[in-house]
Amino acid sequence: MIVASPEAVSTSPMRLAEELGVGVTFFRERIFPDGEINVRAESPDALRGEREVVLFFSLYPETSLRLVGLLQAIDVVYDYSPTAAVTLVIPYLVYARQDKRFLEGEAVSLRVLLRVFEGSGVEGLVSVDTHNPGAVEEYTEMWFCDVPATTEIARCAGEEVFKGKDFVLVSPDYGGVGRVRAAAEVLGLRYTYLRKERDRHTGEVSIQPAEPDLLRGRSVLLLDDVVSTGGTLVRAAEALKRIGVKKLVAGATHLLLLDRADERLFDAGYAEIIGSNTVDTPYSRVSVEGLIADAIRGRRG
Ligand code: R5P
Repeated sequence: MIVASPEAVSTSPMRLAEELGVGVTFFRERIFPDGEINVRAESPDALRGEREVVLFFSLYPETSLRLVGLLQAIDVVYDYSPTAAVTLVIPYLVYARQDKRFLEGEAVSLRVLLRVFEGSGVEGLVSVDTHNPGAVEEYTEMWFCDVPATTEIARCAGEEVFKGKDFVLVSPDYGGVGRVRAAAEVLGLRYTYLRKERDRHTGEVSIQPAEPDLLRGRSVLLLDDVVSTGGTLVRAAEALKRIGVKKLVAGATHLLLLDRADERLFDAGYAEIIGSNTVDTPYSRVSVEGLIADAIRGRRG
């Protein structure tokens, strides 16, 4: 087995290779003046004859460009190692939030992406806290592993922020409650969720706690898959402060933090932000390489 990757900007392919005890070979990316990308395997011979290739690609930021680079890299891998079993590792699976047709005529972005990967011959996909893992399983026959980082984020919050004191895990919507429940069960914490509704035309979000009595006067860790604009967690903070929550901490696996969303979260009352290194930020305290390696080893049995 070998890990092949561009020199990633956040999660580290070197560290993943170390965890797996295998070698790593790099793809160089070249961007032309017209904006096109071309990737080149630095040592193509390292790919020859490999039975298994883990193709590790961070697709954020510059998502659309990196996606094209990834498709080129898949092609290069099969050119040099036509019989290799290729597993894609995409720590933050982009386009995953458009997992269905919300408005008539819209493309189902997640399904399109998965069809393209599957059509390219890739056998497996590993991703961390995918927005809706069930939708991935529905849309593809590829082996898929959704690696959970939320438990580690909650553990980190418990040790470093709440310092052993009691706190409640809260999913900002019903869709994320499975992830939060799993973390709560491992760590022996209580959990609940907020009822969130988004207007698909304006993007406006409204939020209400499902079990206010469980939260009143308590410390809370909000746990989401993605913080993009921060709008969801800001609204969540407003709703939670209205019912008298004591201390608020924001946890999310993929911290995109667009347009200084971190400042908006602090202004809304969050004492801290904790995330993973699927996207590199000053708040990325949980490293996911070991969790990804466990998933790949688990598949090999
Ligand atoms: C949506 O369902 C996701 O789980 C996140 O809650 C959402 O995408 C976060 O986006 P924003 O930070 O822009 O509200």
